[in-house]
Amino acid sequence: MYDVAGKTAVVTGAANGIGLGMCRSFAEAGMNVVMADIEQARLDTAVAELVGKGHQAIGVVTDVSEESQIQRLADAALDSYGGVHVVSNNAGIGIGGEVDEMSLDDWKWTMDVDLWSVIYGVRTFLPILKQQGEGHITATSSMAGLLSGPVLGAYHVAKHGVVALMDTVRIELAIAKSDVRASVLCPGPIDTDITKSERNRPTSLTEHETSDLEERFWTNLSNSLAAGMDPDDVGHLVLDAVMNERFWILTHPKEFIPLIERRLDHIKADHAHRS
Ligand SMILES: NC(=O)c1ccc[n+]([C@@H]2O[C@H](COP(=O)([O-])OP(=O)(O)OC[C@H]3O[C@@H](n4cnc5c(N)ncnc54)[C@H](O)[C@@H]3O)[C@@H](O)[C@H]2O)c1
Repeated sequence: MYDVAGKTAVVTGAANGIGLGMCRSFAEAGMNVVMADIEQARLDTAVAELVGKGHQAIGVVTDVSEESQIQRLADAALDSYGGVHVVSNNAGIGIGGEVDEMSLDDWKWTMDVDLWSVIYGVRTFLPILKQQGEGHITATSSMAGLLSGPVLGAYHVAKHGVVALMDTVRIELAIAKSDVRASVLCPGPIDTDITKSERNRPTSLTEHETSDLEERFWTNLSNSLAAGMDPDDVGHLVLDAVMNERFWILTHPKEFIPLIERRLDHIKADHAHRS
């Protein structure tokens, strides 16, 4: 059991949604919380909420798609609290389009924020945790990192990458017999602002024309997320996994594990003729 009280957490995408839910859980468990986000105004409000409740929290405006800004975030955490123990690489965007209709800019933005940011986060923070000989690094993937479907091609590619990266980290830590732990969060539908990700698109990156299929998809997805889990409940699940040193964090295991099994059945069926 990992005792988090008095330790320091760094959370990206902390101004809203799942990231804010994690910050609330970590702070209530007695942690110092370093909150990073690209949205200054929402970040200020989120930090003020935690500080107003008597918790230790600071905000660091950060664009996670820039490695130098992740390094600056680590420096700010170490300067403020003298250590970093739990790192949640959580910031993300969700944009869609059919694979051949998304612009290259759509692909690039998704890879930068949803995959490269986690690579930067692992490269920056894992050495700090290893040197300390304790800590936990997590990243937010998605059920889209374990399953595929239409319209979210770039998102699926990035989120599968996050699962592969964190699973590799887990295996390498185990081989090294390290006391540092890793996990990957794979949420199902959570009631957040992820479907409004366009608000953070850099002005230099152009969007594509939206197809009918995409329109229908977003309407269904928005309805499903509005009826989804409260992000604060996801925060509790992540805290529990950190304290109990669990790798896989699925928010909706009953609904989605059968779909993962279906993927395995498909692999088996396509090789049945060779058995
Ligand atoms: N909501 C869901 O149903 C769901 C499901 C699966 C996975 N996820 C994942 O959960 C994570 C959190 O998303 P959410 O649902 O809370 O959405 P959200 O939009 O409510 O929160 C995402 C946060 O990330 C921040 N952000 C965006 N781009 C950034 C950048 N370049 N640098 C720093 N911060 C940036 C946003 O400002 C926002 O505060 C994402 O990785 C998302 O892919 C969400």
